[in-house]
Amino acid sequence: MTTPLRLGLAGLGTVGTGVIRIIQTHANLITARAGRPVTISAVSARDRKRNRGVDLSAYAWEDDPVALARRDDVDVVVEVMGGSDGPAKAATEAAIAAGKDVVTANKALLAHHGQELARQVEAAGTSLRFEAAVAGGIPVIKALTEGLAGNEIKRVMGVMNGTCNYILTRMESAGLPYETVFEEARALGYLEADPSLDVDGIDAGHKLSLLSAIAFGTEVDFDSVELEGIGQISIDDIRHAGNLGFRIKLLGVAQMTGRGLEQRMTPCLVPAQSPLGQLEGGTNMVVLEGDAVGQIVLRGPGAGEGPTASAVMGDVIDIARGVRIPPFGRPASSLTRAIPAKAAVPAPYYLRMTLLDKPGALARIATQLGDAGISIDRMRQYGHSEPTAPVVIVTHRTMRDSIDVALAGFRDTGVVVGEPVAIRIEAV
Ligand code: NAP
Ligand code: HSE
Repeated sequence: MTTPLRLGLAGLGTVGTGVIRIIQTHANLITARAGRPVTISAVSARDRKRNRGVDLSAYAWEDDPVALARRDDVDVVVEVMGGSDGPAKAATEAAIAAGKDVVTANKALLAHHGQELARQVEAAGTSLRFEAAVAGGIPVIKALTEGLAGNEIKRVMGVMNGTCNYILTRMESAGLPYETVFEEARALGYLEADPSLDVDGIDAGHKLSLLSAIAFGTEVDFDSVELEGIGQISIDDIRHAGNLGFRIKLLGVAQMTGRGLEQRMTPCLVPAQSPLGQLEGGTNMVVLEGDAVGQIVLRGPGAGEGPTASAVMGDVIDIARGVRIPPFGRPASSLTRAIPAKAAVPAPYYLRMTLLDKPGALARIATQLGDAGISIDRMRQYGHSEPTAPVVIVTHRTMRDSIDVALAGFRDTGVVVGEPVAIRIEAV
């Protein structure tokens, strides 16, 4: 029999137990595909006594994931503990230093330390794979690093946080406010332990920063991702957007512009009939645009035991086959430091505000928009509830800076009640 590939599994939670189930269920299939068996030598988690619903009796136990990473009977460390620092980083670095390959699902670790880790694996001659870190079961890293390797990538877009997409689509379908659906998502176990990772766009921003690095050959730069969460999206905005033929998504967009690399993870209006607009519930979608291929759309489960473990195993089997690709698709030393560009591409905007219902109110708003160089495409007043009236305006293409100038001007008109809302309309 050919030499098995021996794994050390650090983390026995949702993803870790999923990996064990696939290895135990599909041993013959994996051997046939990889050309050699894939086995588990040792596992590590915090609580040795916990029943995890899988048989661990054949595996050695390590309390310390760093000790696991250094074991002589481990060829590949599968890091599925999570966290940008602490044991995940320590075990990953220990594995690389010991000349081992690493497979991880940890987007936070890579978003913060991806560049440094890519340099370490290059120096050590090992590999670091992270398909499961972006959009769960969707093989988007493989698509970018392999299938689309002959393209200049023009734009990467996507809905990469299933929890936010669940909340937004549920608000729309049930007509419920954000706060109610947020609590539903919590009860269903959809939210991360720190919910702000989901609803503030941080988790999805981590993922976007990894795709950007691969797509544009740049160093991972999570700090330059413009982040805005979904907490301010109201059911009114979802309804008005629907009336205009749009849906609101937490949308990631990365593109190289004349001003530098633009990376955004913000709520956007997208056409309701587009693939992104039709995306329901916790599903993820990534849209990749290349100069030769045009646009391709990848859709699938972005989280959960099976889908995430499926992505981990794709990486493990590649390593077993001897496939070696640098973490970001090219040597770490050739990744360039991009100039960050904030909202560098003009777009139409959706504006909603509550106006005092009195003569000249709309004219004052129109004047502010005109003074900021913004042209109005459509404008609609939705009913009256004296003494105010909600007004929705769709602008022609403009820069975000100009929108901010107009919003500041609105405050001085004396006719706007509360805070106006501005949401970008993305051409997808
Ligand atoms: P999880 O269910 O919370 O499991 C984490 C595991 O790591 C647990 O078994 C825990 O041990 C172990 N662990 C934590 N700290 C440890 C330490 N100091 N030493 C040893 N073990 C430690 O997490 P998960 O959902 O499987 O996620 C794992 C990774 O995959 C994360 O990076 C996450 O972002 C990523 N990911 C998850 C999903 C998903 O759908 N769940 C999707 C994509 C990516 P105990 O069990 O003993 O507490
Ligand atoms: N919290 C993430 C989501 C899990 O909702 O998509 C997968 O990264």
